[in-house]
Amino acid sequence: LSTTDVDISAIQPGQAITVVWRGKPVFVRHRQPEEIAQAAKDDSAADLRDKATDASRAQKPEWLVLIGVCTHLGCVPLGQKPADPKGDFGGWFCPCHGSHYDTSGRIRKGPAPANLPVPDYKFTSDTTIRIG
Ligand code: FES
Repeated sequence: LSTTDVDISAIQPGQAITVVWRGKPVFVRHRQPEEIAQAAKDDSAADLRDKATDASRAQKPEWLVLIGVCTHLGCVPLGQKPADPKGDFGGWFCPCHGSHYDTSGRIRKGPAPANLPVPDYKFTSDTTIRIG
């Protein structure tokens, strides 16, 4: 299948799910207001290795959709269990070699060269995302 429809109606703020799209994990996180605020603040306040605004990465601020594959050597970062952010920046942590990603999935520390990628997706309704 080249597209995957995801029902997001049951994902509460602070929770996240992982779905599989084209054989890869895709993280869907329902962000809390403080996570969104931190990500927006870091657009300018942080020294971002792979510069991207949070708004350019999230079509709706409360929903973050990311390919869950570390951009270093391809491990799956931790932090995706409901309400279980990992790493120094409240997002994800890759245990393979210690890369830290923030609440926008941007690389902040460690060997990974780039942010967690955002797949092509769109909202087909208020409660459904189509990935691909
Ligand atoms: Fe993630 Fe190396 S694969 S830090």
